[in-house]
Amino acid sequence: MSSENPGFSTMAVHAGAAPDPTTGARATPIYQTTSFAFRDADHAAALFGLQEFGNIYTRIMNPTQAVLEERVAALEGGTAALATASGHAAQLLIFHTLMRPGDNFIAANRLYGGSINQFGHAFKSFDWQVRWADAFNPSSFEALIDERTRAIFIESLANPAGTFTDIAAIAAVAQKHGIPLIVDNTMATPYLVRPLEHGADIVVHSLTKFMGGHGNSMGGIIVDGGAFDWSKSGNYPMLSEPRPEYAGIVLHQTFGNFAFAIACRVLGLRDFGPSISPFNAFMIQTGIETLPLRMQRHCDNALAVAEWLKKHEKVAWVSYSGLSDDPNNGLQQRYSPKGAGAVFTFGVKGGYEAGKKLVETLKLFSHLANIGDTRSLVIHPASTTHRQLSEEQQIAAGAGPDVIRLSVGIEDVKDIIADLDQALAGV
Ligand SMILES: Cc1ncc(COP(=O)(O)O)c(C=O)c1O
Repeated sequence: MSSENPGFSTMAVHAGAAPDPTTGARATPIYQTTSFAFRDADHAAALFGLQEFGNIYTRIMNPTQAVLEERVAALEGGTAALATASGHAAQLLIFHTLMRPGDNFIAANRLYGGSINQFGHAFKSFDWQVRWADAFNPSSFEALIDERTRAIFIESLANPAGTFTDIAAIAAVAQKHGIPLIVDNTMATPYLVRPLEHGADIVVHSLTKFMGGHGNSMGGIIVDGGAFDWSKSGNYPMLSEPRPEYAGIVLHQTFGNFAFAIACRVLGLRDFGPSISPFNAFMIQTGIETLPLRMQRHCDNALAVAEWLKKHEKVAWVSYSGLSDDPNNGLQQRYSPKGAGAVFTFGVKGGYEAGKKLVETLKLFSHLANIGDTRSLVIHPASTTHRQLSEEQQIAAGAGPDVIRLSVGIEDVKDIIADLDQALAGV
């Protein structure tokens, strides 16, 4: 990129990429190889000892993945990134780097159901304890902090409710206690919200959603904000103590403001192995090239659909932060003035049965468990994505029994509304 300060759309197309030095290929090639030949034995030793950066084996690093990582780091304003096989894999690697058995972390109660499940059940096997705070009440996070608290986790824009979180207020709590704030930015994407600018320390994504954007490839990514002092408290030994497997290197000392991304790669990805395939990395980086165009269209369509639903006689309520009378509209205006995202919920009069019928009658909308596709998608979270939660947890997560979740696509908005109209007529 020739500009010193490229704009978001320029970075979405160019960051991390250049014509292939060997062939001149302009699109980033898919380096579909497991391993990379060493120049000589000294080169191999330097790579394995972390004295030199370079490709060894695709489980740890690959040139197609590297372009994706550099691009997302640039879009989020971070120092480095690590791509993974899925969003959940990224979360596992983050917590593996931060937590020791018996440690705890605090998470907002308004999260994707799979994350509530991962934190509340799967992480118990590692003896990592989650404590749930009220996403709308920053002081509820502070009340849960003790000497074994190692992180705070929130979603910038919560799935499925589509509500914005006060990142700066929660970042202030985290900073006061010397704890990193992790923000899942999947639903907003950096086009709408850049959490690092509001005090977050680590950003995580499911790239499977709006970033890839076409519903065809799984991926996740961890972005290192570069500002957290991993050595100060002694609470993050993976970063602040010598690593026996790398001849006593202290990762924070050696790698400075991108030590967290390195630790996730060389201690987490290397040993647990959830690497993204080069093909998926290629698909997702191609999707990211049109992120600004798609996201704006998603937001514009979603606002028009929400306004239309709000006036419909068979609709009980609509919860979309972009509506001027929505209780979350103030946070949306503050954190995401370009739009309120494409995922929101509403209730049909007639509750559970009417909602089920609506989902079954829609034709343009696909009934499935995903968000952030070019296509319009619909689901009933209580019987699917949030099924494993108690009714109390479902309601707290914005996924109660009467809730329908839409992920509004980029089709012509008149066709999206026509589909909802015919389906509501049959309810
Ligand atoms: C907000 C959010 N975070 C994380 C995930 C998990 O991502 P993945 O399915 O790529 O593992 C999802 C998946 O729906 C999500 O919506």
